Amino acid sequence: MSKTNENVLNIKHVSVIFDGFKALTDVDIQVKRHSIHFFIGPNGAGKTTLLDIICAKTKPTSGTVHYYPKGREDIRLTGMKEYKIVNEGVGRKFQVPSVFVELTVFENMVLSLKGHKGVWESIFYKVSKADKEQIMEVLKKVGLQDRIDIQAGSLAHGEKQWLEIAMQLVQKPEIIMLDEPAAGMGKPETFKTGELLKEIKKECTIIVVEHDMDFVKQIADTVTVLHEGKVLMEGNISDVLADRTVQAVYLGRGGERNAEDQ
Ligand SMILES: Nc1ncnc2c1ncn2[C@@H]1O[C@H](COP(=O)(O)OP(=O)(O)OP(=O)(O)O)[C@@H](O)[C@H]1O
Ligand SMILES: [Mg+2]
Repeated sequence: MSKTNENVLNIKHVSVIFDGFKALTDVDIQVKRHSIHFFIGPNGAGKTTLLDIICAKTKPTSGTVHYYPKGREDIRLTGMKEYKIVNEGVGRKFQVPSVFVELTVFENMVLSLKGHKGVWESIFYKVSKADKEQIMEVLKKVGLQDRIDIQAGSLAHGEKQWLEIAMQLVQKPEIIMLDEPAAGMGKPETFKTGELLKEIKKECTIIVVEHDMDFVKQIADTVTVLHEGKVLMEGNISDVLADRTVQAVYLGRGGERNAEDQ
């Protein structure tokens, strides 16, 4: 039963082997409801693979992922269809941007809200007043309310990332997963993204993969460090920064990065 569970996700004994290569080995992680939980670690550590496991894009060789939606029975995500997981309230932003560049900000939001319909059906779908209000409320949250008629392809890099976050939020998820949301952003945009995520965590749980340690310091509640497919350590950001093994394999080795000054 999930009703009193403070965890929203339980990743249990997950291993993934790609053609003999162990991408993840016996990974155990619990994610707390309404927290910002980071997966960090060197390139190839298995961070993106772990997000792929949660949203069932990749099947684990062994292990399971359970999701505890608010006030409902728990759901085993392992083995489910990807779109069903989205419908159950687990959203995902990929490492590569995935907005429709030819469509406007508003049209992208309509597509996301009506995601179960086809693209064309969604474009010609008559947007109700309630849909419009819902979309505008989310766009306001991410600071894009004045950009609704702009083609997504003309947005600044940071704005595109915020649009992608808004496209997840409009589906009213309980968990959102962001793969390197601050990549390519300067300091002010990165900071703004952090403040935005702090607001969003009041509504849902946020799982983030990032190399930008300033960003991690700004907003992390929990940090899991992955290395060569295994959990190296987990704790709050000060524990992680002080850990000698983490320092040896990741921090100060150039794997992490900080937002550039602009
Ligand atoms: N479909 C696949 N087939 C074979 N190997 C894969 C596949 N997907 C990932 N890998 C390998 O698994 C390892 C983990 O990759 P993953 O993308 O999860 O790393 P990451 O921690 O996200 O790294 P980065 O910080 O560079 O994004 C890498 O060595 C990668 O080459
Ligand atoms: Mg990755």
